[in-house]
Amino acid sequence: MRVLLIGSGGREHALAWKITQSKSLDQLFIAPGNGGTRDLGENVALDITDHKAITDFCKLMAIDLVVVGPDAQVVAGLGDDVRATGIACFCPSKAAGQLEGSKGFTKALCDEMNIPTAAYGRFDNEAAALGYLYQQGAPIVIKADGLAAGKGVTVAMTIEEAEAAIIDCFGGAFGASGAEVVIEEFMEGEEASIFVLCDGKDTLLLATAQDHKRAYDGDTGPNTGGMGAYSPASIMTEALIAQTMAEIIEPTVRGLAARGTPYQGVLYAGIMLTGTGPRLVEYNARFGDPETQVLMMRLKSDLLEPAVGHRDGKTLRPHRPMAR
Ligand code: AMP
Ligand code: GLY
Repeated sequence: MRVLLIGSGGREHALAWKITQSKSLDQLFIAPGNGGTRDLGENVALDITDHKAITDFCKLMAIDLVVVGPDAQVVAGLGDDVRATGIACFCPSKAAGQLEGSKGFTKALCDEMNIPTAAYGRFDNEAAALGYLYQQGAPIVIKADGLAAGKGVTVAMTIEEAEAAIIDCFGGAFGASGAEVVIEEFMEGEEASIFVLCDGKDTLLLATAQDHKRAYDGDTGPNTGGMGAYSPASIMTEALIAQTMAEIIEPTVRGLAARGTPYQGVLYAGIMLTGTGPRLVEYNARFGDPETQVLMMRLKSDLLEPAVGHRDGKTLRPHRPMAR
C-alpha cells in the first residue's frame, strides 16, 4: 500500500514510525513532514491547505491511502475531498469533524443525546454574552466556538477575566473562530483523555492518556497544547472507562449516525472526572499531539489494518490493541 501522511508535528513523526512497521506498507510519503519523518519516508513539499494539490499528488503517485494528522485539515474537509477522488482517507468527514470545529455544535449534540457536560450558553454578540456572564458569575469558562490553535479557551476565575475574554473574542482575537462564543459552567476535577476508533457505528477503545499542559517544570508557565504525555492515565479505572464509553462516546457516535453524518476515524475526548462522574470537556477529531507519541509506542496492532478494513467495509474487531 502506498500511503500519504499529512502533517508536520511530533504526532506525524509518531504515526510515520508506526506506519513503517505495517506489513501492508509499500511506500510512505509525508506532506510536508519534518526532520524526523525524513528518515522514515519521503517528505513532500505540498501546501496541505491546497486540497487539489494533495489529490493531484495522490493520483500522480498512485496513493492508496491518505492519513490526516492535524485538526485544521480535518475541519477543512480534506477527508471528503480525498474520498471524492476514490482514494481512501483515514480522516472524519467535514460534517463529523464539527465535533472539533465547533464547540457549539458539540454542546448541541450533547443536549440532544443527554451527554454529561458543562451547562452552557452560546452567543453571537457581545452584549448577550456579557449579560449571561453577569447572571452566572465566576469561575466560568469562555470559549471561542471554532479552532484557535489551543488558545481559544479562558478558564476565568473572576468576572473581569471573563469580560476581557468575551470582548477579545468578539473583537476578532480569533478571527472567524471567535464569531460565536460558548460560555460554560466551570467543572472541577482531574482531566484525562480517551482515544477510540470509530467506523461510523462501532467504537474500539484505543487507550487513555494525560498530557502536561504547562510550559515549565512543576506545572508552571503558560498553557500549551501539551509538553509531554503519558498513557495509560491510571486515574481512568476500568469502571470509569466503561461509564465514559456508555454515557459519552457511544451516544455521540449514535447521534452523529442518526443525523446521517457518521463519525469515522479516531475520536479523542477530553474528560473531566467530577464528583458526579465523567463529563465531556471537549472533542478532538484526530490523534492528539503529543499523546500519539505514547500511544504509538504502546500499540501492538498494525496501524494500517483498521484503515484498510474500513476501506473494505469490515467492522472493527472487538479486542484491546494496547500493551498494558
Ligand atoms: P478545551 O480546548 O475545550 O479542551 O479547553 C482547554 C482546557 O480548558 C481544558 O483542557 C480544561 O483544562 C479547561 N476547561 C475547558 N472547559 C472547562 C470547563 N467547563 N471547566 C473547567 N475547565 C475547563
Ligand atoms: N494535546 C492536546 C491536543 O492534541 O489537542
